[in-house]
Amino acid sequence: MRKRMLPLIILVIILAGCQSSADGGDVTELRLAHNQPLDHPIHLSLMEFGRLVEEKSHHKIKVKVFANGQLGSEREVIELTQTGAVDISKVSASALEGFESDYSIFSLPYVFESYQEFQETMSKKEVTDKVYKQTEDIGFVGLTYYNAGVRNIYTKEKEVKTPADMAGLKVRVQPSQTSVKMIEALGGTPTPMAYGEVYTALQAGVIDAAENNESALVTNNHGEVAKSYMYTEHQIVPDILIMNAEKLKKFTEDEKAIIYEAAAESTRYHEDVWNKTIEEAKDIAKNEMGVHFIDVDKEPFIEAVQPLHKEYMENEKTKDIYQLIKGAKENEQGKKSD
Ligand code: GCU
Repeated sequence: MRKRMLPLIILVIILAGCQSSADGGDVTELRLAHNQPLDHPIHLSLMEFGRLVEEKSHHKIKVKVFANGQLGSEREVIELTQTGAVDISKVSASALEGFESDYSIFSLPYVFESYQEFQETMSKKEVTDKVYKQTEDIGFVGLTYYNAGVRNIYTKEKEVKTPADMAGLKVRVQPSQTSVKMIEALGGTPTPMAYGEVYTALQAGVIDAAENNESALVTNNHGEVAKSYMYTEHQIVPDILIMNAEKLKKFTEDEKAIIYEAAAESTRYHEDVWNKTIEEAKDIAKNEMGVHFIDVDKEPFIEAVQPLHKEYMENEKTKDIYQLIKGAKENEQGKKSD
């Protein structure tokens, strides 16, 4: 359905480009796409980004947010952002892996040992600048990242406590080669699929399991179908805000600064909204949806994916970013022990 509607949608959004402000000056409207519903914390944070851009630019730049995957799956909106049919989109770093191999590092299981370590790494400009700028020649750049939680495995019923329990389990993963390899390394059968299809696939039994943060149980209703949620904590994959590179270049230096500032501020805003949402999601999933939250021993899972780490450490395409992330971690540890 989406494929057929896309040309029409693109026409509508292209026509929505330029307007005049009350004082007669030009107003630029930026079109921003993402795939979550209106009550998801990321939607609120993207609205906040838009509000900040508008306020800081004295209403000369506006942001129109298209939620709910209206403009397509994450892969489709990345392509639309490349061509400039969409100006900005918020997508998972996993979805960006197919466009730039640096992004694959975020899907490498257990590359970060804790959420705190993830945050420390993401606060390093040498890491984010490298990744965000890498895609300029293919049409887009990264503006900022958003916390998208810690990913855990959930099943319709079966409890997964060791990698041996993954045998025969069809697990939906994001369309990312690294996520496919992760589930293979853990002994399951990976099924890559766009996010919008997961609920129906779980319900119809096309897949037995999925993996995501706790908010997916509630804001995407997966908890209606999946009743066992295991804390494997295998990935911490950020969401990334990307923008068409040509569009960004057309702005003045001051306007570019406004866009970057608003992006960074919306990331901080998101941290607060996010933590509250996860607590609420756990409560609703447990008490209203009957989801069981289960702690597992992560060690055998970590061990099972070590060959993948070796591969990423040695591969020409990923070794620099692997080293950069590990280096950032080591420097941080060094500073703490000084
Ligand atoms: C997270 C992420 C989304 C992504 C989804 C997925 O919820 O924030 O951007 O689409 O995972 O599993 O596909």
